[in-house]
Amino acid sequence: MFRRIGTVMLAFATLALLLAVAFARTDTPRLEPEALKPQQRPAAVFDHDAHNEKAKLENCAVCHHDAKDGKIVPEGSSEGTPCADCHAKAATKGTHLVNAYHRQCMNCHKTSGKGPTSCGGCHVRD
Ligand code: HEC
Ligand code: HEC
Ligand code: HEC
Ligand code: HEC
Repeated sequence: MFRRIGTVMLAFATLALLLAVAFARTDTPRLEPEALKPQQRPAAVFDHDAHNEKAKLENCAVCHHDAKDGKIVPEGSSEGTPCADCHAKAATKGTHLVNAYHRQCMNCHKTSGKGPTSCGGCHVRD
């Protein structure tokens, strides 16, 4: 009898945990640029506003730099323009799209000593 109650309670606890995990995951926005589909890895976790608030990033141009004639223009910004508009997936000149994401995300995490730098830290499995 007690063993059966224990089993039922364990089943409920497991269900609650599974539901919590399922909801937490579907709530987390990820980067899924059209240009990189179909992605080999689980799409990188990036909750735009929450990330930037936590990281205290107020200057949009830190990530959304503007450019002219193939060079970054420090005084401008390009929020609203997808990275892929300037960084082609198969670019042979300059920074191609995957490198653009990797360099921007990882360089800051490395220099600040905060944020994930291992593959699974950003490409979080479901
Ligand atoms: C840490 C880097 C970073 C910072 C800082 C940042 N963004 Fe972004 N933002 C991104 C990335 C990455 C994307 C996705 C772009 C892509 O994949 O083409 C994005 C997308 C967007 C988009 C496109 C709409 C959408 O949700 O897809 C808008 C608009 C935007 N950002 C506005 C802003 C504004 C305004 C600020 C400053 C208050 C800002 N961003 C600061 C990285 C950043
Ligand atoms: C308006 C065009 C434009 C947009 C939009 C743009 N870039 Fe760039 N980016 C450039 C140009 C031009 C360069 C310099 C040449 C090169 O490296 O390709 C550059 C350079 C870079 C570099 C290498 C130099 C550095 O600063 O470390 C990275 C990394 C990068 N971009 C990431 C991104 C990411 C990530 C996004 C989207 C959030 C983005 N870029 C949006 C035009 C753009
Ligand atoms: C200019 C600096 C900077 C850039 C660029 C940046 N990050 Fe971060 N990121 C941080 C910092 C700082 C933290 C740690 C925030 C904290 O918890 O204090 C962080 C934390 C994270 C976390 C941990 C989750 C969280 O909310 O605590 C993830 C995931 C992440 N970043 C993904 C990305 C991705 C993906 C990109 C590129 C699209 C990116 N970051 C670009 C600074 C940056
Ligand atoms: C700081 C965050 C971050 C880390 C760490 C990171 N990536 Fe990424 N990666 C991204 C972002 C952002 C993109 C563009 C959005 C996407 O495709 O998930 C990307 C795209 C990719 C892509 C192209 C899209 C696809 O899935 O086919 C591959 C492949 C990839 N990463 C492999 C790796 C590998 C391997 C590592 C470890 C050596 C790694 N990444 C570490 C953020 C990261």
